[in-house]
Order: sequence, then structure tokens, then C-alpha cells
Amino acid sequence: MPRTLDPELRRALVERIRFYNALGIYDFYRRETPGPGRVQAPEMLVPGVYVEEITSQNLQPESGEEMSPRKATAAAMPVAVEENIFEVIAPKPEQGVSDPVKALKIIREDLGDCTRCVLHKQGRKQIVFGVGNPAAELMFVGEGPGADEDEQGEPFVGRAGQLLNNMIKAMGIERRQVYIANIVKCRPPGNRTPEREECATCSPFLMRQIAVIKPRVVVALGAVAAKTLLAMNSSMMQLRGRFYDFKPAGVRDPNWDGCKLAVTYHPAFLLRDPRQKGEAWKDLQMVMKELGLKAPAKA
Ligand code: URA
Repeated sequence: MPRTLDPELRRALVERIRFYNALGIYDFYRRETPGPGRVQAPEMLVPGVYVEEITSQNLQPESGEEMSPRKATAAAMPVAVEENIFEVIAPKPEQGVSDPVKALKIIREDLGDCTRCVLHKQGRKQIVFGVGNPAAELMFVGEGPGADEDEQGEPFVGRAGQLLNNMIKAMGIERRQVYIANIVKCRPPGNRTPEREECATCSPFLMRQIAVIKPRVVVALGAVAAKTLLAMNSSMMQLRGRFYDFKPAGVRDPNWDGCKLAVTYHPAFLLRDPRQKGEAWKDLQMVMKELGLKAPAKA
């Protein structure tokens, strides 16, 4: 059974990969493990670089210090024994495919009749890949399919989906103009929250979808989406109200510098607590401003 990284360590690793990517470094090499149960220390092939023991602490730049390229190359990249971070940063079959429809199709084919996590044997009817404009400027990411989505094979088609449609309309656009997907593509039984491991297994496919679509803004709907995309373990209150610079780790694309990511409440939460709709509207207005959207005039 694959083991997942500690979220802090994962966040630090993602940051580190982004940092290397920003320097134009995309290729990483794995060194053989020194023994069973030890953390693998993948090392960039930089002459004379020694890879040290890895903790989330020694990945962080010291306080008040900008990480210099030299220092970065001298630091280690962590990988937990069985989590294959190399899959995240390895070249993908859709890379270089300029037509996003074709590229998304390649990702869907790669996903196949997925059995990578336990959700495949816990009653899912079908994989819910994602829907919408393959060149969307705006993308919404939810948690995982519910019963209606599992039935229809499309994200956000149930009650929460109706509210999401209304939110999209209130932003002055239509559902078909955006792209909608989830962190996990299979329905968790009884609509339970997806486990961290399920999110970690499935989300690389979503990251690839994002890298193909190249939206200007991603809106994370709810805590599961926000925490998984940002690899941060903060509360919704801490996560909302600002933009994050976002680029899936390992993406090498000279035509895309990443996008902005905003966090808002999940529509299912808003159905349970409609008093929070005003707060969600503030989040969406921030997104509208970024995209130059205007709310439609009231009839
Ligand atoms: N909730 C989600 O997070 N996603 C869906 O697709 C439907 C409900």
C-alpha cells in the first residue's frame, strides 16, 4: 500500500520542485535506496552535490533568507519510500500536444479504468473525469463525485451543482465556458470525505488537466480541494480571501506561467449554511475582478 507524504513535507517538496522548474531544471534522477525503510534521496545530477538526510525543516530556507540557486542545488529533494514523486515530475504523454481536446483525451486514456486507489472497489459506477471548455480561463475544482455525478459521469450535476451553476451565472458567464473537475474522480462511498491517500493518488491527473487547460484562475471549492491543490493544511478562514500563485509541480511549458488560485466555500456547504453565501460571493467577486468579468444586470 503506498504511503503518503506528511503534508508539510509534501508542500515543501512541491515548493522545491517549483523552484527548480523556475530555474529551468526539470530533470531529476533517483539514486538507489541505501536500505529498506529509508527515505530515498533523489539527487539532481549536479557535480559535487551531496544529498543530505531530509526533513521538512531542512527544506525550508532559513528565516529571512531568499533561497539562492546554489543553495537550492545543494539541498536534498525528499521522497517517502513508496510515494512515487517521480511520477509527478516525469514527462507526460500529453506534453507537446497543443490541441487541449487531444491532450485531455490522452490523460483520460492514461487514467483508464483506474484501480489505483480503493475507491474503484467501493461502489463507484464510473469515473467522473471533468467537463467543460478545454481552453477555459476559469476552472472550478470540487472534492469528489456524489451519487448524481456517479450516475451521470459529470461533476456537479446534483443539488450542489445547481448552486454552482447559479454562482457561475452570477459571475456573468455560463457553465459551458468554464471547466469543472474534482480532486478525486470516483465517488467515495456514502459521500464520505476522500482520504488523503485517495486525494494524493488521484490529484496528479487533475494537475495534468490543469496544465493542459492553462486557466487564468482556478477556484478551489471547499477545504479538500484547497488543501490538496495548495498542499497546505490551513483552515478555510485562513485560506480564503486572497489569490495564490499556482502551477502544478513538474509542468514545463514555456507558454504558461501558471495561474491564480482562489479558495471559496463548497456549494454543498453553502446549501447547509446559506448565511455564508455573502462570503462566497466576495470570493467570486475577487475572481471576477481578476478576469474582468461583470455581473449581469438584474432583470
Ligand atoms: N460535490 C463535489 O465536490 N463534486 C461534485 O462533482 C459534486 C458534489
